Amino acid sequence: MNKNIHFMENENAFKVLSRAQKLEKQGGKIINLGIGQPDLNPPKYVIEEAINALKNENHGYSNAKGMLKLRETISNEYQSLYKQNIDPDNIIVSPGAKPIIYMAISMLSEYNCEILLSNPSFPIYSSVIKYCGARPVYYNLKEENNFDLIADDIIEKITDKTKLVILNSPCNPTGSVIKTKELKKLLNFIENLPYKVFILSDEIYSKIIFNPNIPTSVLQYSNNLENLIIINGLSKSFSMTGWRIGWGLFPHCLINNAEKYAVNIFSCVNNFTQFAAISALVKDFNYTENLKNIFNSRVSLMVKGINQINGFQCKHPSGSFYCFVNIKNTNLSSSEVQNILLEQLGIATIDGNDFGSDNNYIRVSSCTSKENIKIALEKIGNYFN
Ligand SMILES: Cc1ncc(COP(=O)(O)O)c(C=O)c1O
Repeated sequence: MNKNIHFMENENAFKVLSRAQKLEKQGGKIINLGIGQPDLNPPKYVIEEAINALKNENHGYSNAKGMLKLRETISNEYQSLYKQNIDPDNIIVSPGAKPIIYMAISMLSEYNCEILLSNPSFPIYSSVIKYCGARPVYYNLKEENNFDLIADDIIEKITDKTKLVILNSPCNPTGSVIKTKELKKLLNFIENLPYKVFILSDEIYSKIIFNPNIPTSVLQYSNNLENLIIINGLSKSFSMTGWRIGWGLFPHCLINNAEKYAVNIFSCVNNFTQFAAISALVKDFNYTENLKNIFNSRVSLMVKGINQINGFQCKHPSGSFYCFVNIKNTNLSSSEVQNILLEQLGIATIDGNDFGSDNNYIRVSSCTSKENIKIALEKIGNYFN
């Protein structure tokens, strides 16, 4: 057995989901503020395109990097959004965004090298870093700064051992978004280093940013694509978590190795999903704008309600559908709060420790209707007030 497998971790969000499903099977009614998946349906035209592809298109393997037409569509989107010329050959289409995280980290992990990531952060990053024998080095996203990324907090940790800096904006679990000034400062610093440090920018929530004046991609300000890996996909922006469709943009020096991972792990993504993805990106028809507005309004309701509960407090996130709620004043640990909410009140949330924080937070998502959010807030209020 590979000893490193013991460093690989599970994702608590999936454990909570499975517990919630079990409770529901036993007759309980669970409100899901846990796992981050939009409760909306994907656009109708996307579903129709998938059905059409199943009926009329081919059923064999596609190119391991993904269908050229889809990679061209992704490239066109980057051109129109950020005026960056991305060669479709530098894109790998993958079954969801997650495999790209694995590819990028494992490809760059030399034994004992350092990989910078935020605390708190999406748990898969640290799990894969440790599995691959690299060392996670954390920069803090502090509540007193609205969980905003401060470039200097990263810069002071970069050394010649640093191979990779992971950015995630909007951030899971805090919903914070990197501000232009901080992003420019960080990119400028990394671009001028005498050694090469790669950046992995996980932009899976890029279409759910509430303030129009903050960057939606590192591509907006990057002058050097040769050290940049970008992750995105349709899971969150088109409510397609179960379809498994995402992609990674790799620099020339990494793309051939990324393709090897694709060939070795999944061969290609299923064809009908790729056809559906093309139509999602080409048509959109305001779907993502509408989705963003729905989440903005739900999140506002959530923040207002949370701040009226004794011992709970949270800031309004700048993007995503998450709120990272400080529960320190309940005098309970975050896992105790998660368990009370799930087992006694029927409300699924995620213990903040899953993201590397310190017993003081839970993550709530607004991936349910406003009616459900109101009921959940009322139940939590009745218990704690
Ligand atoms: C920050 C972040 N990156 C990647 C993913 C994985 O996305 P996918 O479901 O497309 O694999 C998630 C899912 O929650 C996420 O929060």
